[in-house]
Amino acid sequence: MKHLKVKIKAETPLLSAALLALFLFGCSPAPERKAAQPDPAPVAAEGHIENGRDLFMGYVHLQNGGPPCMGCHSVGDNGLLGGGAMGPNLTDVSTRLNQAELVSVLSNSGPKISPVMEPIYTEHPLTASEQADLIAFLNASVGQVEVDKEPMVVAVSLVGFVAIAAFLGFIYRNRLRSVRGALVKTAEKELP
Ligand code: HEC
Repeated sequence: MKHLKVKIKAETPLLSAALLALFLFGCSPAPERKAAQPDPAPVAAEGHIENGRDLFMGYVHLQNGGPPCMGCHSVGDNGLLGGGAMGPNLTDVSTRLNQAELVSVLSNSGPKISPVMEPIYTEHPLTASEQADLIAFLNASVGQVEVDKEPMVVAVSLVGFVAIAAFLGFIYRNRLRSVRGALVKTAEKELP
């Protein structure tokens, strides 16, 4: 009996490259620095709004490697997709909490400690200047319009799903036909 020779199609390297790229981009972790000394010194709100915004949104990494606030909170009209929904929207938080309470949340000390944030920012404490910058940013967002970004998130997810389906469909477009084709050809040769 003859050996079945199935040609490796040209798609295979392309597919491997796509999977490799997906793996690399999907898995590369955010650069993480080891937690340094906790720096819980309470701060007066004399920070810089712009710095606070960059830290909140994750444009600038928090010094001790904590996750950006944006992962769980929205504030005002923040970015294309808004922030996470696990924590409350912080747009008007400065009207709900006084400055000492804000410091308390961010420094994990005092009267107002978030059970969700506490373990995270104990391991990755916010520095005094980060706390000041973040509070300045939150104070400045009072009165901004809260925009619901959920429809946008759904729309972007749908577009992404369709794009990936189309991409995979393109890569696999000859897959079944080529395997069966090779089988049929071999079988034909073996016929008397
Ligand atoms: C892992 C999700 C998560 C991250 C990340 C996070 N928070 Fe929170 N935050 C929460 C939750 C949830 C609450 C509500 C209290 C609770 O249930 O623990 C909260 C509460 C707060 C509050 C008090 C709000 C209120 O109305 O009482 C403030 C202020 C706050 N977070 C600021 C921040 C800032 C600034 C950052 C970034 C340094 C941040 N949070 C990062 C989840 C998070």
